[in-house]
Amino acid sequence: MDGNLMSAEIPALTEIRRVGVIGAGQMGNGIAHVCSLSGYDVVLTDVKPEALKKALDIIKRNMERQVKRSVLSERERDAALGRIKTSVDLAAVKDCDIVIEAATENEQVKRDILKALAPQLRKNAIIATNTSSISITRLAAATQRPDRVIGMHFFNPVPVMQLVELIRGLATSDETYAAAEAVSKAIGKAREGLSGRSKFVWLSENWKDYFEPIAVTAGIATLERVEVVAGLASGDQVALEDVTRKKVEKDDENN
Ligand SMILES: NC(=O)c1ccc[n+]([C@@H]2O[C@H](COP(=O)([O-])OP(=O)(O)OC[C@H]3O[C@@H](n4cnc5c(N)ncnc54)[C@H](O)[C@@H]3O)[C@@H](O)[C@H]2O)c1
Repeated sequence: MDGNLMSAEIPALTEIRRVGVIGAGQMGNGIAHVCSLSGYDVVLTDVKPEALKKALDIIKRNMERQVKRSVLSERERDAALGRIKTSVDLAAVKDCDIVIEAATENEQVKRDILKALAPQLRKNAIIATNTSSISITRLAAATQRPDRVIGMHFFNPVPVMQLVELIRGLATSDETYAAAEAVSKAIGKAREGLSGRSKFVWLSENWKDYFEPIAVTAGIATLERVEVVAGLASGDQVALEDVTRKKVEKDDENN
């Protein structure tokens, strides 16, 4: 039984080494791709074995393209692929430090996953959800550890898009936010917390028409921040090969 745990009662998560990914579809395979390239051990799960096979094929193909463009060595590719394990059993993620749920966008499906998942994890492990539209607070309420639940909204295709939005639920702890932020940084994604408040803004393709005035007026974001988000969220001119660990390291050196 998970117990009614709040941050103060559980040990701090000092290091994240293992990442679980639930749902091996379009987003799940991209999240597994970037996490494994960044050195994390990854456990990718899905209820459908064929989805796992397809996800691995896609990851291999995308990494192969990166090798061909010389942004990734064969050794790095092989090491990254070697860090990805797959399973149809949800329990396979039980030793992960953070589990990113990227299953079908259906509230009941996600609530059922989180409810089953939480008691299997260590007390200080973090659950992130990649939901596009469902309340983080409501999803977190499916667990008895809502302080350890956060939204990590990646953009598609994950290896290309540089943005991840971090969305707090009402109970999300600062430590959970910091851990999600650390993972986002490690995988080379810009973090956009918007207001750092419990707001979740869905960016559609024509987001700028309505999001910008609303966000700026409501004080959720400054115009400058909105423009940064816009740049990161439109990946049209960004090639897959441009967004790699190497590029991130190079950028870091230059800063
Ligand atoms: N596709 C996008 O552009 C995009 C962008 C941002 C966020 N998202 C969000 O990411 C999540 C996944 O979207 P997607 O496009 O990858 O969907 P998808 O349909 O490609 O993949 C979903 C996967 O979840 C699996 N699944 C369903 N129930 C499951 C369960 N109980 N346990 C484990 N796996 C299960 C399915 O078998 C499928 O392989 C959704 O919440 C979606 O809103 C999608």
